[in-house]
Amino acid sequence: MKIVASATMLLLTAALFTQPALAAGDAAAGKDIGYTCLGCHGIEGYRNAYPSYRVPKLGGQKAGYLEIALKGYRDGTRKHPTMVAQATSLTDQQIEDVAAYLASVGGETVAEGGTQGASFDKAATCTACHGQNGISVNAAWPTLAGQHQDYLFNALKQYRDGTRTDPIMSAQAGLIAEEDVAKLALYFSRLKGLETTKPD
Ligand code: HEC
Ligand code: HEC
Repeated sequence: MKIVASATMLLLTAALFTQPALAAGDAAAGKDIGYTCLGCHGIEGYRNAYPSYRVPKLGGQKAGYLEIALKGYRDGTRKHPTMVAQATSLTDQQIEDVAAYLASVGGETVAEGGTQGASFDKAATCTACHGQNGISVNAAWPTLAGQHQDYLFNALKQYRDGTRTDPIMSAQAGLIAEEDVAKLALYFSRLKGLETTKPD
């Protein structure tokens, strides 16, 4: 446990110094681009066809992370075909703007953070980065609180089988015991946080 904790601290320190520069986008400009996105992300419980899991909630998500995720689809480190198609034509500026817009929606619940007292010991290592209440402590890292359980489960599976790769998270996911994957996804999904983006 001690070794895991200090390895996590090392990763944390390394991550803080290797973070890409994140520019602040213009939320007002991003709103127009965001309109198309809401055809999927703005519908409560909308599902990806195959494999079937719910489209991730983006409302209140960290802008820096949304930016990294979109660039990941555009540049090939994330391979979901629909999202690759959505992101390919976007410029860096458009990505920054739409990220700022999406992050600005649903911020209230996220600011409050999770209020429930239930804790899960297996989630302790995760909170070093994803926050005590599942609200990420760093703009470049995703908030997990309130995200759909099946989306979180699928994301963890992808890191574990190598479909999705990330220098930090691939290693973290590899340390999770098989029987805890679903429990961790359920735990974070039940915390108060992210919201489905609602068009005005
Ligand atoms: C046809 C449905 C659809 C549309 C339209 C769509 N998305 Fe997505 N989006 C998805 C699905 C499905 C995923 C999950 C993919 C995966 O598992 O990697 C996703 C994932 C994402 C993620 C990653 C979230 C995370 O937590 O890692 C971001 C960011 C995102 N979409 C932003 C956008 C933006 C911005 C647009 C508009 C330019 C958009 N999406 C349009 C279906 C859609
Ligand atoms: C050292 C920091 C760190 C720790 C500890 C950590 N993560 Fe992560 N996690 C990240 C980063 C950074 C990302 C974004 C990676 C990417 O862009 O794909 C991430 C992404 C994720 C995602 C994908 C979210 C999305 O919206 O697609 C899930 C799910 C996740 N982590 C769950 C966990 C769980 C469960 C644990 C504990 C067992 C954990 N993480 C521990 C840093 C961490």
